Amino acid sequence: MDWIKPLIHQSQGAKEFAYCPYSKFRVGAALLAHDGTVFTGCNVENASYNLGLCAERTAIAKAVSGGYRSFKAIAIASDLEDQFVSPCGGCRQFMREFGDHWSVYLSKPDGSYKEMTIEDLLPVSFGPEDLKKKRLFTTKNGS
Ligand code: THU
Repeated sequence: MDWIKPLIHQSQGAKEFAYCPYSKFRVGAALLAHDGTVFTGCNVENASYNLGLCAERTAIAKAVSGGYRSFKAIAIASDLEDQFVSPCGGCRQFMREFGDHWSVYLSKPDGSYKEMTIEDLLPVSFGPEDLKKKRLFTTKNGS
């Protein structure tokens, strides 16, 4: 797959824009949609710490707000020297919203990577399909 290295390269480029004055931990993401469009994202922190956004979620919000919901892969980059950067739990669930059979490339600054699926990262997950399944009890008026 000739797009993997370029996608990782784009996630490294996105990392350059990271706004992380508090953690000083830069993260970049590059999200590949099914038609080949790439959406990049970086972490965007805030003085009110808990409002900070992760790079993956920034990229996904950009894509969805641009009309894209079908994704082939996401590459993630950080400055961790000896470790493939691992997406946080919240981002795993956020990515899973759009399917559990697409690829996540965890990378190192030297461009080496490890491929995992959303399902590998978040097994036995809860997703939008679950909300449509038969239930024993449902309220009539939504309360
Ligand atoms: N961060 C991401 O952007 N993605 C992840 O998957 C892990 C964590 C960011 C959030 C925060 O700005 C910084 O890294 C340190 O946690």
